[in-house]
Amino acid sequence: PETPVKVTVTGAAGQIGYALLFRIASGQLLGSDIPVELRLLEIPQAVKAAEGTAMELDDCAFPLLRGIEITDDPNVAFDGANVALLVGALPRKAGMERKDLLEANGGIFGPQGKAINDHAADDVRVLVVGNPANTNALIARSHAPDVPASRFTAMTRLDHNRALSQLAKKLDVPVTDIKKMTIWGNHSSTQYPDLFHAEVGGKIAAELVDETWLRETFIPTVAQRGAAIIQARGASSAASAANAAIDHVYDWYNGTAAGDWTSAAIVSDGSYGVPEGLVSSFPVTSRGGDWEIVQGLEIDAFSRERIDASVQELIEEREAVRALGLI
Ligand code: NAI
Repeated sequence: PETPVKVTVTGAAGQIGYALLFRIASGQLLGSDIPVELRLLEIPQAVKAAEGTAMELDDCAFPLLRGIEITDDPNVAFDGANVALLVGALPRKAGMERKDLLEANGGIFGPQGKAINDHAADDVRVLVVGNPANTNALIARSHAPDVPASRFTAMTRLDHNRALSQLAKKLDVPVTDIKKMTIWGNHSSTQYPDLFHAEVGGKIAAELVDETWLRETFIPTVAQRGAAIIQARGASSAASAANAAIDHVYDWYNGTAAGDWTSAAIVSDGSYGVPEGLVSSFPVTSRGGDWEIVQGLEIDAFSRERIDASVQELIEEREAVRALGLI
């Protein structure tokens, strides 16, 4: 029988974990014929809750689920991991400054990066979901010198999917009619959803909408959707975040469709003026298990200004974690 793929999920007892684990176990992360083994990492206080979720996973009798291990030790959780989904993070609490937030998360993502470096499988692929996702990925990566930088990514797929959906509603077309959507920069309110390269029925999306809508409705709606969900639901997006994580990893393994691309935050090689080493969102394709940045797009002044602003925020976050000795 085929060796199961080991998938480690951190923050397994959290709300994204609850929406994510069942979809992984049912075969949606990698493909419907690939057996998986789950490794759940939680903090000691939440191990019991993770055990409860594991009981429910058992009760689904998923044909592809070949085992579940629950631990509070990153060295155990990442042992032999082929896929690592870093979901658990420390949320910003009232009165917490950005520096405190970065420091608290550095204390999580540094050791997890090291555990991945020392124990994960040679083909490990890492997706950071926990916020601030891009910079947490930067921290994890900097503690994993033996793992290729290309294996560390952060999630902007939820923003990408939100952009597809907002545009589809506006134009009254199915989302499948939209190709080449891009989220640039940081997974934060500075992110830039780009309609100047997106295509709808072969036409440039920015030419099908008026500029005021693009500038004053589309960009802020996508960038601030997370806050709008919290306001409406009384809790942050969980099922849609889990869905985006599934999309990200599925495409990473299985490739993006010909004639289309997606968005992912990956370690910059300097493309589009994004400083090398920053974990920034780009238009990307995947072939054979590696992301590649789509090259040669023309960036006009409108887009340039917005990409630069988001990248500037990433530079500042990098400086802050450097000053704290976290990278
Ligand atoms: P949650 O608070 O429900 O769950 C987080 C879980 O992580 C908790 O069970 C907690 O015990 C656990 N955890 C904390 N420290 C840990 C550690 N060191 N090791 C293992 N587990 C640890 O939060 P939720 O809603 O599941 O969100 C998780 C993260 O995802 C948050 O940081 C959130 O901001 C982020 N997020 C990112 C999105 C993106 O698009 N990139 C979208 C939505 C959420």
